[in-house]
Formats: sequence, C-alpha cells, structure tokens
Amino acid sequence: MRTIKGKTVLLTGASRGLGLLIARVLAQEGATIVGVARSSKGLEQFCSLLNGNAIAIPFDLSRVEELPILVQEVKHLAGSVDILINNAGIEKYRAFTEYSLADLQAVLSINLVAAMELTRLILPEMLRRDSGHIVNMASLAAKKGSPYNSIYSASKGGLLMWTDTVRQELVGTGVGISAICPGYVLHVGMSADTGVPISRLAGASQPWVVAKAVAKAIQHNQAERIINQDFITEGFTKLLFMIAQFSPRWVDAVYQLMGIGKLNQRRIQAQTKAAKFANPKNDCTKN
Ligand SMILES: NC(=O)c1ccc[n+]([C@@H]2O[C@H](COP(=O)([O-])OP(=O)(O)OC[C@H]3O[C@@H](n4cnc5c(N)ncnc54)[C@H](OP(=O)(O)O)[C@@H]3O)[C@@H](O)[C@H]2O)c1
Repeated sequence: MRTIKGKTVLLTGASRGLGLLIARVLAQEGATIVGVARSSKGLEQFCSLLNGNAIAIPFDLSRVEELPILVQEVKHLAGSVDILINNAGIEKYRAFTEYSLADLQAVLSINLVAAMELTRLILPEMLRRDSGHIVNMASLAAKKGSPYNSIYSASKGGLLMWTDTVRQELVGTGVGISAICPGYVLHVGMSADTGVPISRLAGASQPWVVAKAVAKAIQHNQAERIINQDFITEGFTKLLFMIAQFSPRWVDAVYQLMGIGKLNQRRIQAQTKAAKFANPKNDCTKN
C-alpha cells in the first residue's frame, strides 16, 4: 500500500464541493494540501478547514498557457508535488446546438486541457524521482453520454481515455495514475448546486464516499474506480455500460426511462436562472 502521509498534494478545485472533502480526507491521512481555485472566499474556507496544513493559490485554470507559472509558484511555496489531483471541473447544460464556441472552449479547457497540461508539467519530475501519483476526476458521463451535457461528457470521456493511455505508458515506473468516475453526488457539488432533483433510478453517492475513494485509489494505485451509491447500484451501472458495448440504443432507452435527459433539461433552466442572478445586466448570458 502506498502512503499518503508526509506527501505534498496539488489539488485543483479546492474551493468548494468535492474538492473540500478530498482535501480533508488527504489531510487526515497526513498530507499537506496545495489547493488551487479562483474564489478567494472558497480558498479561505479551504485553509481554515485544514487548520493551517494547507497552502492556497488563487488561479484560473482556463488560462492554460500560464500553468507553468502556477507550477513554479507551487514549487516555490511547497517544493515538489508528490500527488496531483485534477479535480476542478465545470459543466454547462444545453442542447448541443445552443452552445457557443466560448462554452466549448471553457468546458474543454478546464476539464481536459488544464488537467493534461498540469500533468505534462509535473509528471517529468515524478518520473525522475520514480514516485508519484495522479488522480483524474472523471464521471459516469465519461462512460455513457449525458443528454444536454454533451461537452461535459466529451471532456470526461477524453479525460478517462487519456488516463487509460498514460497508465499504460507508466507501467514499470514508480508513478501511478487513477481515474475516478462518480455518478450523481448528494448534498454538495455541481449536481446538488443546480437544485434539480437527482434521478432516483440512476443512483447517487454520498460525497464522503467519493473523497475516500480518491485516497484509496492513491494507496492501492487503482486504475479506475466507478462510484455509484452502493455495491448493487454500482454493479447495475457496470452491467449497463457492458451492455452498451453491444447495444448503445438499448442503454439510451434505459437512460430515458431514468429521466436523465429530462432532468438535465431542467438543469438548463436552473443554470440560466443562476447565471442571470449572478449577472443581472446580461439577460441573455450564456455563462
Ligand atoms: N458533483 C457531482 O455530482 C460530480 C459527479 C461526477 C463527477 N464530478 C466531478 O468532480 C469534480 C468536482 O466537482 P464538484 O461537484 O465538487 O464541482 P463544484 O462544486 O462545482 O466545484 C468545482 C471546483 O472547480 C473549481 N474551478 C472551476 N473552474 C475553475 C477555473 N477556471 N479555475 C480554477 N478552478 C476552477 C471551482 O473553484 P472556483 O469556482 O473557485 O474557481 C471549484 O473548486 C469535477 O471535475 C466534476 O466534473 C462531480
């Protein structure tokens, strides 16, 4: 079992949601966490939750060309990164034709390109030391597309396939890479924040379960972990993905039965309302 104690963890998306819980679980295991996000208020909360065993760096990950500056700052403040967790992510619910180019670029750059580029910048040193671990926070949407959330699904599918490839390139080194694929998460995070109920048939997990799964993936160098509610729902989910290899349309019908597309359509309205509230002058905002 690989130890987390005494390690330096670079965690993106540390200001709220799952990031805060992942930070707490890893800090409890004895790691020092360097948290990255944009919101200074969220990062203050992150620091106070970890009782000083944390360093916060405000940074906008969509500025991917500036990631070398972030990596330099991390090195300056905390030394070498032992564990990188690419957790930051955004989603925008829309019918595909309603997306703007800016939407596509925002989702893909934060969810996929920033994770790849951070890894590209940090992995060489891990390889030189022959030790380290990378965790990529994917989603069940990486396994089967989520209607009205197609760009997010594409970004997570890309993240999962890229992780799968890099894992094969890392065989024989002391560096591991894991993908975590949670389904809906209760109480905190992006699904809960929309205020739209989660499809009961689809399953939903406690956020602590997801955070602990991240620690376990590092400790046991797990390749991929699907998380959905409990052992039975997880088994059913894996079975569905297996059937989708033979008959994608049959699983489309199951998703329809679960009401996933309908609920996502309600999330379009919820997100548009939230964006109008955040930016009342811009009534036709696409953010
Ligand atoms: N919650 C779920 O149901 C669920 C299910 C499956 C997978 N996931 C995945 O789990 C991860 C965490 O999700 P969550 O539910 O915790 O989401 P969340 O509550 O919306 O938090 C997202 C985090 O990403 C950060 N972030 C977003 N844009 C950023 C940017 N441009 N630069 C830097 N940081 C940025 C946010 O910080 P700032 O806004 O302060 O920048 C925040 O800390 C995501 O990758 C998500 O796709 C979540």
